[in-house]
Amino acid sequence: MVGLVQRASHFLDAGDRYEPSAPLAGKIIANLFMENSTRTRCSFTIATKRLGGDYIDLLGGTSSASKGESLVDTALNLEAMGVAAMVVRCTQESGPSDVAQTVGIPVINAGSGTTAHPTQALLDAVALTRYFGKEDLSGVHVAIVGDIAHSRVARSNIIGLTKLGATVTLVGPQELVPDDLDCETSVDFDAVLQDVSACMMLRVQFERDAEVGEDYREKFGLTEARAKNYSGAILHPGPMNRGIEIDDSVANIESSPHNLILSQVTCGVATRMAILEHLIG
Ligand code: CP
Repeated sequence: MVGLVQRASHFLDAGDRYEPSAPLAGKIIANLFMENSTRTRCSFTIATKRLGGDYIDLLGGTSSASKGESLVDTALNLEAMGVAAMVVRCTQESGPSDVAQTVGIPVINAGSGTTAHPTQALLDAVALTRYFGKEDLSGVHVAIVGDIAHSRVARSNIIGLTKLGATVTLVGPQELVPDDLDCETSVDFDAVLQDVSACMMLRVQFERDAEVGEDYREKFGLTEARAKNYSGAILHPGPMNRGIEIDDSVANIESSPHNLILSQVTCGVATRMAILEHLIG
């Protein structure tokens, strides 16, 4: 993990000066996205192109999945067409691992159900190590706030942040914070905010039937008033529900030098370059 974080950071430092040795030249990467995506799919596409590769997109609604074809059968067909690797997003928790056990090419989990989003956790680690100017996150206390119950980002970040030495506290209403995750939990956002140096706000996943009370923003939102008393890093994996988990004014990048929300997106391209290079380059 540390090697990938360092390599992503190298790509970020190199910026446009990065002279691609085209490690993916002649390779086609399949983006197999059965769920919608903006950041993950586009950043994998850009990362592939930056490394000299080519890509195809197969999206759930326009694929033969709509006729009942299984994810594994779809993947086998893409492999038969000669793609070099697959980036898989799906609703099934075991989808990417089922595909990986069946095909003979690298498979990257781009978000599976509510369980895992490992490349998001890796890019968040890149954003935070650069923000703190360290190679690891020892001594850093991170709050992950909101709809933990439906969040694959939270689950992967608990693993990733802890691995890099950070302490994680989960904050949210009791019904949205499962008690089977290996972390401290709290319902008192203001108290936790005084103790952390990074705060990761999560989207309330209404499309997965999350329900919140009318006082959710007041209790668990990063409101303008709350943000005024906080000087640590602000993260959000996106997409954001402005006015629910984060106020419009706090979400806007110019609101604070500590707002890392778009920096996370930039880190996403570099992180996915590091992953593709490692697996296929
Ligand atoms: N953070 C994230 O996974 O965003 P997308 O759903 O837009 O890819």
